[in-house]
Amino acid sequence: MTFSILSAAASGEGATPAWAMLAYLVAGVFFILALRGLSSPATSRSGNRNGMIGMAIAVGTTLIMHGTNLVEIGIAIGIGAILGVTIARRIAMTAMPELVAGFHSLVGLAAVVVGLAAWLNPGAFGILVPGDQIDLAGLPIREVINPVSRIELGLGIAIGAITFSGSIIAFLKLSGRMGGSPIMLPGRHVINLGTLVAILGLIALYTISPDGGAGEGWMILAIAVLAFIIGFLLIIPIGGADMPVVVSMLNSYSGWAAAAMGFTLGNSAMIITGALVGSSGAILSYIMCRAMNRSFISVIAGGFGAAPEAGGAGGAREQRPYKQGSAEDAAYMLEQAESVIIIPGYGMAVAQAQHALREMGDKLKEKGVTVKYAIHPVAGRMPGHMNVLLAEASVPYDEVFELEDINSEFAQCDVAFIIGANDVVNPAAKTDKSSPIYGMPVFDVDKAKQVFFIKRSMGGVGYAGVDNDVFYMNQTVMLLADAKKMVEEIVKSLD
Ligand code: TAP
Repeated sequence: MTFSILSAAASGEGATPAWAMLAYLVAGVFFILALRGLSSPATSRSGNRNGMIGMAIAVGTTLIMHGTNLVEIGIAIGIGAILGVTIARRIAMTAMPELVAGFHSLVGLAAVVVGLAAWLNPGAFGILVPGDQIDLAGLPIREVINPVSRIELGLGIAIGAITFSGSIIAFLKLSGRMGGSPIMLPGRHVINLGTLVAILGLIALYTISPDGGAGEGWMILAIAVLAFIIGFLLIIPIGGADMPVVVSMLNSYSGWAAAAMGFTLGNSAMIITGALVGSSGAILSYIMCRAMNRSFISVIAGGFGAAPEAGGAGGAREQRPYKQGSAEDAAYMLEQAESVIIIPGYGMAVAQAQHALREMGDKLKEKGVTVKYAIHPVAGRMPGHMNVLLAEASVPYDEVFELEDINSEFAQCDVAFIIGANDVVNPAAKTDKSSPIYGMPVFDVDKAKQVFFIKRSMGGVGYAGVDNDVFYMNQTVMLLADAKKMVEEIVKSLD
């Protein structure tokens, strides 16, 4: 906030009126309450509500303060709202990550466009100061963009462009329009570092360049082009299994781009919102890195997920013996058990089996079985994917446990019931250094007395594309069917 006032003052822009500063502060408080609410499924609805209230206050204040033409802005908001509602209604839950990546690219592009607009028409942004060159009468020949705004503008364009091209690649990879395997350029770290240094050098040159002139245009253009290129270079070496961290990292970049533009526009609400998005995205990335046992620094550097292809990936898989069971077998064993831990994964989302699963849990509890749900931080295809689905099916929150809180319980539990999960229970993550998921913490389902594993066929693999030793363990019974159908059959058998 202080920086924003300084920036506005430095740029010659009139100070933001006190009422608007207060309104932005209130909006900021609502955003913080929103983040707090979103930290638990139980409070997430109120979190969302607070976010919407904060955004309405921030947008309303900006429009009133600048005396904006409400008809024009109303049309723009209307078009955006129609597009947003249509996309939100159509999008499948499983396609959320690519949608989020697609939306991040728009935030990045917006930052670039705002930066270019400020450069092309600095007077409208109130960022002009008298230049150094003076005429014979000692008056400045022309006004130039002040140095502080030049830094903000350069950084905003650079971060925005990185976010834009990086998010486009993430979108293409996540939606399957581009292969998920890492594309490794020789000497990529040197190229990335060189490009980054060139971008920073150009921003510095642009900041100190005297009185604008034609060279400025080339500098701005070069910053944008190099940043587009580095965004692309940072994301192409990242393998499919590590994309969740990338999506949240790009989320963070988009926040910082918005914050940088907030400085240029002298808009405190944008700075606060951008900083909140930037830092919460960075914290989420850090948590996910820890969950997947990846180094945070190498995420930022790009290409951290470039593990070699695992033995079982893609190619022909060795035929190994496994046991197959029926819904009746599963129902019988489940009702005999004292404790059951259910591990949902992406397949549960595909099959939309959460309601049937809750029904199964209820039936087992009626029979005196202790039922718990174990959620891996990267189960499914987006952070909190499983929590959202279980909450939608009204699974009580106190039955849902995070990996670190429940993993030690597998050794005592009677049945581990895996429904549509695969990578998150794959012991190769603990033992096989050549596996793309090596190092990711996984559920110790191999310690359970009995394992039921629902998936559609033995041919299908998880996201990382690797075989799973759990299929072939002595205590594992494969239930090969669509997850919803299988669980409905089990519920019938339990009746
Ligand atoms: P996956 O490893 O992707 O395994 C999904 C399993 O579900 C497969 O075994 C698949 O086998 C089965 N399946 C699919 N449709 C099914 C259906 N209709 N009925 C029954 N089974 C079905 O899932 P996971 O264990 O949840 O692991 C998540 C993976 O996704 C991790 O590698 C993670 O890094 C990655 N990822 C996560 C995120 C986030 S943020 N959560 C984002 C992007 C990527 P069949 O095909 O044989 O049925």
